[in-house]
Amino acid sequence: MKKARIIGTGRALPNKKVHNTDLEKIVETSDQWIKERSGIETRYISTGETTTELAYSAAEKAIINSNINKEEVDLVIVATVSPDSYAPATACVIAKKLGLKNPTAFDLTAGCSGFVYGLTVAKQFIENGNVKNALIVGVEVLSKLVNWKDRGTCVLFGDGAGACILSASDKNGIINTFTGSDGDINNLLHIPGEPLDNPFYKEEKPLPSKISMEGSEIFKFATRIIKKSVKTVLKDSNYTVAQLNHIVPHQANLRIIEYASEKLKIDLDKFYVNLDHCGNTSAASIPIALDEMNEKGLLKENDLIFLVGFGGGLTWGAALLSW
Ligand code: ACO
Repeated sequence: MKKARIIGTGRALPNKKVHNTDLEKIVETSDQWIKERSGIETRYISTGETTTELAYSAAEKAIINSNINKEEVDLVIVATVSPDSYAPATACVIAKKLGLKNPTAFDLTAGCSGFVYGLTVAKQFIENGNVKNALIVGVEVLSKLVNWKDRGTCVLFGDGAGACILSASDKNGIINTFTGSDGDINNLLHIPGEPLDNPFYKEEKPLPSKISMEGSEIFKFATRIIKKSVKTVLKDSNYTVAQLNHIVPHQANLRIIEYASEKLKIDLDKFYVNLDHCGNTSAASIPIALDEMNEKGLLKENDLIFLVGFGGGLTWGAALLSW
């Protein structure tokens, strides 16, 4: 059986970099509070770049980085909670823009775990022989869903896209994955969809769709689920924490990452962190981080890498892979 192996990565960020001090002018906050409570210093915010444009740009770079012909991509999965349209799916639009040849293409919604969910789905397609090359994109323009009057959320999120090509290979690739959800606590993060609006429904329309989040409860969930994900996947795959070369966590909060490092007794240096300059880009955070690492030459062949995401749903998704 072929393995599903990442052979290329790409990322795209909006042009505008927004510093914490810029946010001091918008809500009652401070650079010091944001840095101390989250680790975030700057993030990129769209001043026109759309979800589709960012996804397309990251995807194009991932295809180039993979050294494959775009005609060879036969599956496209885009993970996002902030698409430009309900239909067509972002995956279909970028497939057309990229000039792909009739790939299976769909969007997937699993909050900040979306990219790892996408990898997990694509892995099945590859391992059962139906697909040779899959393009997986995590993309968000959360700035259009953020309540810019809510200091508890607006200082945390950033826009951007990350992508990878997952390819059928005789070498090792994704070793194991672990995904799940807990709907009992889905109230902790909410982004309402379109309200009911038809000639037969007379109630008043609710307010426009904006993110609401109980940050401190998600914080507790995140620390629990990172630990559980690492323990579960490593046990099921017969690896130990000491063998991991890199952990690429969802970039939500530096304190969550520090806590996970302490609880798992894994050196903090093994956790890749880019939230200081990207903020929380939800489904895009893990692939953006992977592309940064790839560009810096941090990822060596056969390195053991652990990806772990958590977010709205609440969902979680983890993957152990050999680079
Ligand atoms: N500036 C200044 N003060 C603030 C700000 C701000 N931007 N935001 C909140 N505060 C205040 C609060 O009002 C509160 O004041 P009070 O004590 O007088 O009531 C105080 O700071 C502490 O607030 P907490 O919410 O308890 O702060 P906490 O230490 O928990 O940090 C944070 C908040 C950064 C949101 C943290 O809880 C966190 O990162 N949570 C995880 C979020 C996450 O992981 N989300 C991922 C999912 S995203 C997705 O799926 C799309």
